[in-house]
Amino acid sequence: MDDLKKLAKAKLLIAEDTPIQGKKLKFYLEKFGYEVDWAKDGKEAWEFFQKTEDYDLVITDVQMPHMDGLEFLKHIKEHSDRKHIPVIVLTTLKDDETLLTALQIGASEFLNKPFRPQELRLRVANLVSLSKFQELMLDENQELSSQLLEKNRILENNFKDLNRAHDELKEMKAQLIHSSKHSALGVMGSGLAHEINNPLAIIDGYNDRLEGFIQANNLQQDQVLKVNTKIKKSTERIRKIVLHLKEFAQGFNGEETGEQIFDLRDMLENIKVFFGGKIDDLGVKIFFDLPNESVMIEGVPASVEHALFNIVHNAIDAVEKMDKREVRIKLELIGGQAEVSVEDTGKGIPEDLVNRIYDPFFTTKEIGRGVGLGLSVARSYLEEHGAKINCESHSGTGTIFKIDFPIYKEAA
Ligand SMILES: Nc1ncnc2c1ncn2[C@@H]1O[C@H](COP(=O)(O)OP(=O)(O)OP(=O)(O)O)[C@@H](O)[C@H]1O
Ligand SMILES: [Mg+2]
Repeated sequence: MDDLKKLAKAKLLIAEDTPIQGKKLKFYLEKFGYEVDWAKDGKEAWEFFQKTEDYDLVITDVQMPHMDGLEFLKHIKEHSDRKHIPVIVLTTLKDDETLLTALQIGASEFLNKPFRPQELRLRVANLVSLSKFQELMLDENQELSSQLLEKNRILENNFKDLNRAHDELKEMKAQLIHSSKHSALGVMGSGLAHEINNPLAIIDGYNDRLEGFIQANNLQQDQVLKVNTKIKKSTERIRKIVLHLKEFAQGFNGEETGEQIFDLRDMLENIKVFFGGKIDDLGVKIFFDLPNESVMIEGVPASVEHALFNIVHNAIDAVEKMDKREVRIKLELIGGQAEVSVEDTGKGIPEDLVNRIYDPFFTTKEIGRGVGLGLSVARSYLEEHGAKINCESHSGTGTIFKIDFPIYKEAA
């Protein structure tokens, strides 16, 4: 409704020095319902134009004292922020040159003198509605752009919030990885305790026997030497385990976070030391199939070991309650890559869950046994090494994880 009213009410400025023409124009325009200001020459018209901001249309004669119509038109187009206001120039038919100049400066329409009232009415009505329409569009645009600015501001704030949340998540992830490393150390710690206890029990046993031999005073040198060799073997095994525990802990204390070129086969040998030939309490058998020669890769040893340890540990968990409890760890060179595979005879992963195993906190283990970070951390570590991890699993028959590492190639 307001828009329609706006369209109906219009204000016009006439610049005309001839009193009869001016009067006639004012008379008809007012009759047509417009509000009209009449300036007697270009200079006065320009003053009116500057003072009054709401003219919708200007009608100007060409020849006038002080400032002619073309000069007035030029002022509107060049020195005003309302240069889009329509301007009708009054001409005579012979005024070809003037007509062209007026067009060049930016006149919207021409009206021949003497004008016919009906023509005046139509030309003015057309231009006024065009001008009003432009004004409406301008208002609408302004409204839209202020809405856009507001939305932009909201978006910017959201973006800042998102960035903040992203930073907090990064910080949380770092903390989780840190605590997951600790939990891995914990698991490894109990594995180690088990492994150290075994050779210790053996040493104790042989020591008792040695004591027995000595007490019976029935010393036979070869028997003593045999027992001694067995004790030495066990202490050697303890030494290896303790050494490896030191290496592992150093990695997590940040002492070994730099990139190195290292032997993947040696690393798997070390894991072999941890798990031994079998895990007695659980009745799990672990088989290692490793090549004789070194397989060198480049990266952070502690990260790679942490990832492999997680995968092997998952496999042991998976077979724990099965009749056949076997885990096979293999290292082979396939297609220019070093492939580690960890295969188990476990319960497998149901098809609908297999895509979720790398999600942080996805676990099917009971509370206290798993937090669901092992594989997500393992995958991010492995990907940092350019390695690809792949899992094939069938519910009921077992799972195989394959990890392909790029082999280190010495620069030629
Ligand atoms: N070899 C496997 N056999 C069967 N299921 C597996 C195997 N490896 C992983 N999964 C499934 O994937 C889930 C996620 O493994 P992931 O190592 O990320 O977490 P987790 O072992 O549950 O806990 P965490 O490793 O943090 O102690 C496991 O809970 C298990 O359901
Ligand atoms: Mg795990």
